[in-house]
Amino acid sequence: MSDKTNDIRQTLLVALGVSLVCSVLVATAAVLLEPRRVQNEQRAIRYDILDVAGRLTDAVDIDSAFDAIETRLIHLDSGEYADPGADPAAFDPRRAARDPELGLAIPAHLDVAQIDRRSRLGRVYLVRENEELERIVLPIHGYGLWSTMYGFVAITPDAGRVLAIKFYEHAETPGLGDQIDDPGWLASWRNKRLYDDSGDLAIEVIKGSVRPNDPRAEHRIDGLTGATLTARGVSNTVRYWLGEHGYGPYLAQLKEGTNQ
Ligand SMILES: Cc1cc2nc3c(=O)[nH]c(=O)nc-3n(C[C@H](O)[C@H](O)[C@H](O)COP(=O)(O)O)c2cc1C
Repeated sequence: MSDKTNDIRQTLLVALGVSLVCSVLVATAAVLLEPRRVQNEQRAIRYDILDVAGRLTDAVDIDSAFDAIETRLIHLDSGEYADPGADPAAFDPRRAARDPELGLAIPAHLDVAQIDRRSRLGRVYLVRENEELERIVLPIHGYGLWSTMYGFVAITPDAGRVLAIKFYEHAETPGLGDQIDDPGWLASWRNKRLYDDSGDLAIEVIKGSVRPNDPRAEHRIDGLTGATLTARGVSNTVRYWLGEHGYGPYLAQLKEGTNQ
């Protein structure tokens, strides 16, 4: 065998060896770091829940502040709290939505958030101040222009007004659709009224700016310039989840002052 053939064989062997070692290293690192990744993801979500819950301060310890918030599961269809034995931490709404038993298909005419399916159970976060229910944080998700947007909306305990809203996951375009993360725009939701005087869900994002003399101004939020489609997605998401097929039955009980 010629020296040249030997050289090629050696080069190939070294390359194979190096790539094998590297793949083992990368795979091991991925497996070892997975629990840390999950933990970081969970902490980031807890941070955002605390933010809309109004419980975020510089000195806050995320985990203990989060533990002070009561997490409950509800039956979305009836609005009743689930068995206290059900563990909200173990509940995975995305998996439940896909499950034939734990999830259901949303009828097309109701699916304004374009999510196809939802879990039968929902998770709610009850924020108390000196034992008194101060606000309720509700997870929401729906389709924007390019992606499913996941977030939280905090409402008053009588389901009268929005107190805060925030998205923690989406893939809308930087500079356009990602204006849904703009703190000024998010703050503009504060104190908007959910229902009109007839009791109909009235909150919505409009195209353009809300005129001060608009009789429905207390329900309306300015649109996002250049991102009308994402803004419409947010509007539809909020309206689906606060509507009859979402948390509606639960909110009806809150409005009556029961179920707190
Ligand atoms: C590359 C690209 C990315 C875009 N990303 C978004 C987006 O994330 N959200 C959105 O609503 N519109 C996005 N648009 C713009 C929409 O196609 C559409 O023009 C816009 O939503 C209309 O908003 P306007 O009526 O306020 O101009 C994007 C357009 C382009 C070309």
